[in-house]
Amino acid sequence: MKPLLEVENVDAGYGFLQVLWEVSLHVEEGEFVCLLGANGAGKTTTLKTIAGFIAPQGGDVRFKSQSIGGKPAHTISSMGISFVSEMLNLFTNMTVRENLLLGAYNVRDKQKQLEALNFVYSLFPRLKEREKQLAGTMSGGERKMLAIARGMMSQPEMLLVDEPSLGLAPQLVTNVFDALVTLQQRGVTILLVEQNVASALRIADRGYVLEQGKIAIEGKSSDLTNNEHVRSAYMGI
Ligand SMILES: Nc1ncnc2c1ncn2[C@@H]1O[C@H](COP(=O)(O)OP(=O)(O)O)[C@@H](O)[C@H]1O
Ligand SMILES: [Mg+2]
Repeated sequence: MKPLLEVENVDAGYGFLQVLWEVSLHVEEGEFVCLLGANGAGKTTTLKTIAGFIAPQGGDVRFKSQSIGGKPAHTISSMGISFVSEMLNLFTNMTVRENLLLGAYNVRDKQKQLEALNFVYSLFPRLKEREKQLAGTMSGGERKMLAIARGMMSQPEMLLVDEPSLGLAPQLVTNVFDALVTLQQRGVTILLVEQNVASALRIADRGYVLEQGKIAIEGKSSDLTNNEHVRSAYMGI
């Protein structure tokens, strides 16, 4: 079986600034993979390239064996990849429910939209309790949940999640990570970018470490957790 997502020898960047150098990674269907690395390593750039916000300058990206490198973001999203990013902000003066329904923009059937809404409410009961609340008045952790839930409303097969733990208190980090584990159990394939290396390796099946735009190390989470370099450079052990 071919992997669901294949990134092959991708070069990418911004204008003349090359950030990614022959980056290769893959994610199998149903797998939970994390992409780790220091600030500025190119993690967000990798997700943006997969999601279609940046076109690769070399190499290719394939989803379900189809080349998607350079396709526009809305095409890639309609193929079943959802990108949950810090950049894509919520509409703070709209309610939780309105924000969620916006995430189902590609689901035309009203009945299917309500099914998607009930699905994310079953994952995040807290959002159901708060459905009439304005998104801007939610706590940091609740907003992350809302962002992930909105990403789920288009019923994607694959979720790309960029640093969901950033700026959250430890208890809320646990909540957000638990939600990702639940999503994987429901069959969603996940590529998670994190600087919270120890926590990411606890929940992911496999991981890659990006250093200065190149994949430096890859392996099963248990192997990365025991890797000397990963421990000293990223876990402070
Ligand atoms: N829009 C942009 N224009 C120019 N350079 C950028 C842009 N976004 C990121 N960069 C640069 O690309 C490099 C990698 O950034 P990024 O992928 O955001 O790293 P990470 O997510 O691993 O912290 C950094 O040197 C950053 O300054
Ligand atoms: Mg980033």
